[in-house]
Amino acid sequence: MIAVAALTAKAQTLSSPDGTLTMRFKVDDNGRPTYNLSMDGKTVVADSHLGFQLVRENANKAADFEYKSFADKQKIEQVADMMTGFKVTAVTTSSCDETWAPVWGEESEIRNHYNEMLVDLSQPMNERNIRIRFRLFDDGLGFRYEFPSQKKLTYFVIEEEKSQFAMTADHMAWWIAGDYDTQEYEWQTSRLSQIPELMSKAVTPNSSQTPAGESVVQTSLQMKTDDGLYINLHEAACVNFPTMHLEYDKASKTFVSHLTPDAQGCKGRVQTPYDTPWRTVIVGRNGKDILASRITLNLNEPCKIEDTSWIKPTKYVGVWWEMITGKSSWAYTDDLFSVKLGETDYSKTNPNGRHGANTKHVKDYIDFAARNGFDAVLVEGWNEGWEDWFGHQKDYVFDFVSPYPDFDVKQISEYAASKGVKMIMHHETSSSTQNYERHLDKAYDFMKKWGYDAVKSGYVGDIIPYGEHHYSQTLNNHYLYCVKKAAEHHIMVNAHEATRPTGLCRTYPNLIGNESARGTEYESFGGNPVDHTTILPFTRQIGGPMDYTPGIFEMDCSKLCPENNSKVRSTLARQLGLYLVMYSPLQMAADVIENYMAYEDAFQFIKDVPCDWQRSVYLEAEPGDYVTIARKDKHSENWFVGSSVDENGHTSTFRLEFLTPGKEYEATIYADGKNASWDKNPQSYTITKRKVTSKSVLRIKSASGGGFAISLRQL
Ligand code: NOJ
Ligand code: CA
Repeated sequence: MIAVAALTAKAQTLSSPDGTLTMRFKVDDNGRPTYNLSMDGKTVVADSHLGFQLVRENANKAADFEYKSFADKQKIEQVADMMTGFKVTAVTTSSCDETWAPVWGEESEIRNHYNEMLVDLSQPMNERNIRIRFRLFDDGLGFRYEFPSQKKLTYFVIEEEKSQFAMTADHMAWWIAGDYDTQEYEWQTSRLSQIPELMSKAVTPNSSQTPAGESVVQTSLQMKTDDGLYINLHEAACVNFPTMHLEYDKASKTFVSHLTPDAQGCKGRVQTPYDTPWRTVIVGRNGKDILASRITLNLNEPCKIEDTSWIKPTKYVGVWWEMITGKSSWAYTDDLFSVKLGETDYSKTNPNGRHGANTKHVKDYIDFAARNGFDAVLVEGWNEGWEDWFGHQKDYVFDFVSPYPDFDVKQISEYAASKGVKMIMHHETSSSTQNYERHLDKAYDFMKKWGYDAVKSGYVGDIIPYGEHHYSQTLNNHYLYCVKKAAEHHIMVNAHEATRPTGLCRTYPNLIGNESARGTEYESFGGNPVDHTTILPFTRQIGGPMDYTPGIFEMDCSKLCPENNSKVRSTLARQLGLYLVMYSPLQMAADVIENYMAYEDAFQFIKDVPCDWQRSVYLEAEPGDYVTIARKDKHSENWFVGSSVDENGHTSTFRLEFLTPGKEYEATIYADGKNASWDKNPQSYTITKRKVTSKSVLRIKSASGGGFAISLRQL
């Protein structure tokens, strides 16, 4: 259905399919495009302006104007203004109700149901046209700018995007500091008004941090109003554009977009025709609604990969935690000064005796994976370069094809193949993205030659070339280039320290994982805040799955490395619950073999839990307090439930009404022990079995920093 509205009407109104949400659009007296959003009659976003400020110096060139000199300042300023002086020339409404099947996901079918309003705007003073497309779902709004191809607008450079999100009160917010390079921050919980004063506390010194300013936060930003609305701001389909942050103005309670600059300080170089990423406002009456929203995926383009048969959800183990804790090393030798890439004769250096990626050890992991039904083994530190890889702005550190002498790639791949186990490649780029692009084809060919179908890539440290940022337009293009190239080679990608996800995994489902937040590795660097995994589903995971790498059974890191006194801030039972709470089609069992052998009965859950789902049911969810999710295996009638709770502990009570009525299930419940707590008694757990049906009610008490996991096997 497409309808063209009468242009005489001053404000245009769009309702969501069931009428829950209403969006109003108008052009104000200064010709500023303006929208607002309400739910059940309550204002969610008050009147907010939309537009762009262009770079002044380039404005004349950009808009293809001919000036005699730059002295014509007024004209230049006018051309740089893409905020005022607009007129509505057409309003077209339409709607969509379709269902699509993701290659992998939290459910096997996703409904995409919205009403759309496309507003055509002209800016007579500059003879330019732009369009704003609004899509209103029952659980939120997406909008984007579209710049059609036109005579007076071909190339332009953005100084700042000026999309506003005006809040109505001093909401509670779960936020991290705005940063052009990393999302590896601890989440802050505060009122919006406290953001500026808490900002410096939120910043913990870390080499690749580039804080964006005292009132700038990252998306996805989760908020809760005092009258119980849940509001989430993020973006979808960030392609060929910088990542968006939000700058908060306390006086007007308004967020305004703040894009990531490039090395010259510019915030996007555009050639028309061009559509920006979608800006999203997800709204819920409770926390569960936010987690159940599929807006981010729905606003991305359908899958562009024709044959997806080679893309497989993967459960893996790896030679990894031992390096993170300091027990083993990535590097083959400690002799930093003798090492030059391609020139070092490693046979003359003395192995340091701690090199994790050695053939014998890797074979033990392959055996362990095969014995316990894992799909794959990740090995880091397999390739030359780790002796001096980071912090020195070296352009050329790794070539991604030269194994250390004690890593016999041929023997390892043959052994893995004989055991039916896949190997996962590791490419630490050391953020030297040009070096990586130069080697990419060879690196992917090398992988295919040795039977690797998936790569974990990494972007530790400042971007080289210096001055570029992890979240800039150029870098966002780099990550997507790698994903597309990988697809040509039938390779799945899990990129760490890359840009924060915006649902592109729908279009390129070989992007099976990203990090882009503090993962389990921080449990070995001092510990994640106890409520961390009750916030991530509302924030980082709105953009897509996270390779969180759960499954740590030994919380005391000194047991692996005596000098490491970090403690994992979680109970063991919660580590199991994370396989449900932290959704990902790529799930690691991150601990070392010995620790799984010490708790074989609890390890059974990790062996049983799948990582691809037919349905997901969000049982309870409060950001910062608790999250409990039930999911049905994509390929069987079995269900799994997982929970993670904060330092206060929590009792969960829920009916198993999602089970098929009339069927019996065997429930195996992995819960915190009576006296368990994350800090004093993390390894105390109980395992109980009972028969249940869809009428059964479970009541499970989780400890401080605890949680639980349940497997429900249909009988
Ligand atoms: C940081 C990643 O998050 C971690 O998983 C990896 O082991 C190191 N970088 C080394 O690449
Ligand atoms: Ca990391």
